[in-house]
This record gives sequence, structure tokens and C-alpha cells, in this order.
Amino acid sequence: MVEEAAPQKQGSAARARSGRALTPVPLRDVQMPAVARLSTGIGELDRVLGGGLVPGSLVLLAGEPGIGKSTITASAMGNLVAAGTSVLYVSGEESVAQVRLRAERLGPDALSVPAIAETNLDAVVATIEAERPDVCVVDSVQTLSASELSGAPGSVGQVREVAGRMMGLAKRLGIAVVLVGHVTKEGAIAGPRVLEHLVDCVLQFEGERERTYRTLRALKNRFGSTNDVGVFEMADNGLVEVQDASARFVAEATRGPGSVVICAMEGSRPLLVEAQALVARTELVPPRRVSNGVDRNRLALILAVLARHAGVRVGSCDVFVSIAGGVRVDEPGADLGIALAVASAARGVPLRGGAGPLAAFGEVGLTGELRHVPHPDRRLAEAGKFGLEPVLAPGPGLTLADALERALEPAPAGADDLSVAA
Ligand code: TYD
Ligand code: MG
Repeated sequence: MVEEAAPQKQGSAARARSGRALTPVPLRDVQMPAVARLSTGIGELDRVLGGGLVPGSLVLLAGEPGIGKSTITASAMGNLVAAGTSVLYVSGEESVAQVRLRAERLGPDALSVPAIAETNLDAVVATIEAERPDVCVVDSVQTLSASELSGAPGSVGQVREVAGRMMGLAKRLGIAVVLVGHVTKEGAIAGPRVLEHLVDCVLQFEGERERTYRTLRALKNRFGSTNDVGVFEMADNGLVEVQDASARFVAEATRGPGSVVICAMEGSRPLLVEAQALVARTELVPPRRVSNGVDRNRLALILAVLARHAGVRVGSCDVFVSIAGGVRVDEPGADLGIALAVASAARGVPLRGGAGPLAAFGEVGLTGELRHVPHPDRRLAEAGKFGLEPVLAPGPGLTLADALERALEPAPAGADDLSVAA
């Protein structure tokens, strides 16, 4: 049951009766004010936003607790202040002293951000109306509550009310509002997900808390593409942009059995990542299928195609697949790389690369064929930039079995070849 504030009945009924016909306008004649975007001073964040914050827009920054949402917003606010933009930081989770403690790690600009610690929505709204900042951060949307609703902070009714009021403020006063929202791994909690239709832009912060790399991507963006992704690293003085992510992942690739470099696309940006697989005999029925950074169902499909069409049977083995660095690849172009990694791990021989590790991309079809994926030229160019040659990619008539034959040595005599296990 979701509690909502009672609507003002009379108003809407009266309006419905007195409705007058409007004159539709051809879109080309619609006046469109030019909006100057506000740069957050963090290149990767600006890029994901589509060029910076849009005045009057509502951005939801979602992510698991501890991933760095407060850190990135505090840095961005610091940069905005330094650039002469007025900002306000509303913290509902931490005291201003705690916010200061974080800002001290981020540098002098972050320390000049004006902040309040408050959980009462009316007080927050009143402060924003009085201060009229250009940019306002609410950290987090789950901690504020409206007194007219009795639901606990973070409940669907409350979260919706907070977002609705902020939306009204943003549009009316032209303030860019960033709502921070906590999402658990399952993403299913009655939290910020219910706001996705309401806000202009949803940014998702992903990564493993224990790992260094974090990715920021737009799940929805009314003012830009949802294709771009920013890569960050958590350092002692805040989040640092990682511009040469491919170079790092390639340099760290082990080249051992089960290791391959995937030419993945993160939206419109090519990214080289290392996929690793481990295949180990098991007594478990059914055997384990564990994936990290790769969709489990996708892995199941690839294992089935490997067994049926490429003679790699790992039915009596546990299979672990992981993308190094805690990155997630959720695109079909990663299929071939995953298949190669599993086959190589099962046979216990490394993949045939050139001077560097073997790179691959391509979708694996259900009939064992390799399918084309978008942007082959960009993927090849990125691999070329780091001297990765050859690159295994879909070609005319090339099947998964052919690709395995090209990339894999036969198992040495007497070796424990798990790919032929039942
Ligand atoms: P935080 O931004 O508070 O996460 P969130 O708001 O998403 O819950 O910080 C995440 C973690 O990052 C926290 O455990 C401390 C760590 N951290 C650093 O390693 N370096 C830093 O400079 C800062 C500010 C935080
Ligand atoms: Mg926080």
C-alpha cells in the first residue's frame, strides 16, 4: 500500500469542466531558448550528462552505498563554485561536519561549497527558495521526508513526493537539481527506481566497492545520448577520471590460459577489457556457473553453444567468468571473447595472440555462427592503438568452431583437457 498526499479534488474537476481547446503549434515554430550547460569540471561526468548540467533539469544519480556518489557530487559542486556558479549541498544522511570531512580530502574548492544538513522537505524547499542556487544536490532522496505524509523516509510515497517537489522547484526557478539515490545490487527496492520516469536524466554509478574502477553511465537522458560511459578510480583524494582505461586493462592482461582481451563498446566509446575464465572439475550437480561483470544467462547460452557447436563440453565442471577490474560488459560483442576464454581455460592452453594478448569481438549465435556487431571499425582501431594483432572478429562464413580452431592450440599430449569432459 502506498500512501499519497490527498489531491485537491475541486481544482481538477473544475478545470476539466472549463477545458478550452488549445491551438497546436508545428514544432519548427516552437520557441527554443538556448541553454548554456553548466560544466561540472569533471570531464567524464560532463560527457555522460551530454555536455554538462542543464539548468532546470532533474538528475537522479543512483548507485550502491559506498560507491562514491557523495564524493563525485561534492567534487562537482566544488568545481562549480570555483567557476562562479552558486550551489547548495543538502545532506540528509550526514552532518555538515561529516560532509566537511569528506570535502577536506577533495581540496579547497570543495570546502567552499555551502551545505545544510536537513531531512525535513519543507525546510529544504524553503532554503532553496531563499538561496536560489544554480545547482542543488540532495543527498539522498531517501532521507528527506514530507511532514504531511506519515510514511517513513525512503518509502515510495515519500520518495515520490520529494522528487515531485524538487521537480517543481527545478522547473520554476531554473535550478539544476541532482538527486542522489541508493540502489541495492538487486535494484528492486522501492527506492529511486520509481523516479526514473519523472526525472530528466538517470545516471547509474556501478562497480564493486572493493575494486578501484567505477563506471558512470546514463540509463536515461533527455538532453544527451545514453551511450556514453565514464570510468573513474577511487583514490585518496576523491574520484579520479581514468582516460586511458583500455591501456591499463591491456597492460594487466595475464595471457595465461583463460585470458582474452575483449574489444567492447561502452556506448559510443570502445573499451578494451580483459575477460578471464576458470574451468575446474566438480562433483556438484548442477555444476557452478559464476559470472562477474557478465550476464549469467548470456554465459549459459555461450556454454550451450560451445558444447553443441564447437565440441567444448564442460558439463561436469564449474565455470567462472570474470571481467578484470570490476567492469561490466553488457553487450553481445563480448560473446566471442567469453567463449574463447572458457575454451582456453577448459583446454588449459593460452590463446594464440601476436606480440600482445589475443583480442576478439563478435556475437555468438544460437546455431554456432558468429554475428556482426555495431562499430567494428572503432573496435579494431582501439585494438590497433594498443598494438593488439590479430583481432578475431566475425567474417564471412566464420563459425565459432573455426574461431576456436584459429585461436587455440590442441592440448599437449597427456594434458588434462577438460573441454572433452562429459
Ligand atoms: P561516498 O562518496 O561517501 O559513497 P556514497 O555516497 O556513494 O555512499 O564514498 C565512498 C567510499 O570512498 C568511502 O568508503 C570512502 C572512500 N573514499 C576514498 O577512498 N577516497 C576519498 O577521497 C573519499 C572522499 C572517499
Ligand atoms: Mg553518500
